[in-house]
Order: sequence, then structure tokens, then C-alpha cells
Amino acid sequence: MLKGLIFDLDGVLTNSAVYHLTAWNNLAKELGINLTDDQLDSLRGISRMDSLNLILKYGDQEDKYSEAEKEKFAAEKNTKFVEQVEKMTPADILPGIPELLSDAKKQNLKMVIASASKNAPKILTKLGIMDEFDGIVDPATLHHGKPDPEIYEKAQELAGLNADEVISFEDAQAGVQSIKSAGQFAVGIGDKEVLKEADYIVPTTKELKLSEIESVFNKK
Ligand code: G6P
Ligand code: MG
Repeated sequence: MLKGLIFDLDGVLTNSAVYHLTAWNNLAKELGINLTDDQLDSLRGISRMDSLNLILKYGDQEDKYSEAEKEKFAAEKNTKFVEQVEKMTPADILPGIPELLSDAKKQNLKMVIASASKNAPKILTKLGIMDEFDGIVDPATLHHGKPDPEIYEKAQELAGLNADEVISFEDAQAGVQSIKSAGQFAVGIGDKEVLKEADYIVPTTKELKLSEIESVFNKK
């Protein structure tokens, strides 16, 4: 029986995934690395340092910089990202999400955030929905990033629920893999080829309807 929902944040509740990708793409260009669209997309859901390391790998620059230099690049990228976050308002909540959250409230479902972003509390506050959630996984406590199941397992624990009692929402391939490895029901939002491991896929948040997702969940 469904008892809780677990949400990724960037690209699921709000469009901040685009801000992350734009900031990374600009930094990559500064480093002389031209990322393909697929390479850029593969950064979705990946932690800050893992993203930078992946970019350097794509550019064959894996061993070019010291840890201190890499810290500096990551901090630069974060400054650019936070500039965009500062401008966010409740109008930046993606379409379909307010209805989904209120439908979940009516059913007394637990709601937890499973985002790799250290900026998650700031973003949720800007969106005005911080109080909607029963918990936020602290990414600083994690040993492994997505696609490892750890973050979704922690989220489920915070909700006090079992894997078969939750539905989890993701826009990232690494995120869907993380959910499935945790043994949970995955809703993928985005490209159906990229997110094909999900149990239920919609192109955008507009198509999310809790009753419809729940009827597929109940048949599993
Ligand atoms: C989320 C985003 C990633 C981002 C990561 C770390 O998972 O999807 O694009 O790299 O969080 O975010 P942070 O705000 O801590 O740099
Ligand atoms: Mg995401």
C-alpha cells in the first residue's frame, strides 16, 4: 500500500536542473572542453565533485588539475548556480507539482526529498515549499552518489517506510537507477529512452497525476 512519496529536486520540483547544466557547460568551455548534449545530460543527478570529475574525463583532462584547483572550479560553478537560485520564487515550481503535492497531502502520504544538492534547503525555501516535506536527506551524510541506492534508502528510512510503500520521482537516468537499486517504484520525468528503467514515465511534470500513477503502482 502506498504510504509515501520521495522526490528528487532539480528537474522534478523545479527547473533548476537547467541552471546546473548551464553553469557546468560554461565552466567546461572555460576549460576548453566542449560537451555533447548527451554528455551534458549525463550530469543530471550527479554530485558536485563527481560532475566536475566527469567533465574533466570527457575532456581528457583527468589528471590536469590539483584537488585545490578542482575545489576552486566547483566553487565557481556553485556561485553561478546560487545566483540563479537567489532569483527563484514560488512561480518556479514546475506545472503539475502543486496538484501532486496537495493530492498527496489529502492522502496523508509522507513526503521526503532525495536530492544530491547541498543547495536543496535554500531552493525549497525560495519556492516556499520547505514545510511540505517530512524530511530532506542530508547529502553530506552519503558515502555514494546516484546511481548508488544509498540516497533513496536513506529517504525511505526518514519516512519510516518500506521500499514497497513508496513512489520515487526522478528526471535523471542515474536517479532512476538509484531508485530501482533501492527496490522502489520509479517515476521518470523526461526522455523515455533515457529513463527506460523507470516503472512509469511521463515527458514532463504536467502529465503527473497521482491517481493514475497509483493505479499502476497497485498492480505491481
Ligand atoms: C543534484 C543535481 C546535480 C547537482 C547535484 C549537486 O543532484 O541534479 O546536477 O550537481 O545536485 O548539487 P549542488 O547544489 O550541491 O552542487
Ligand atoms: Mg534531478
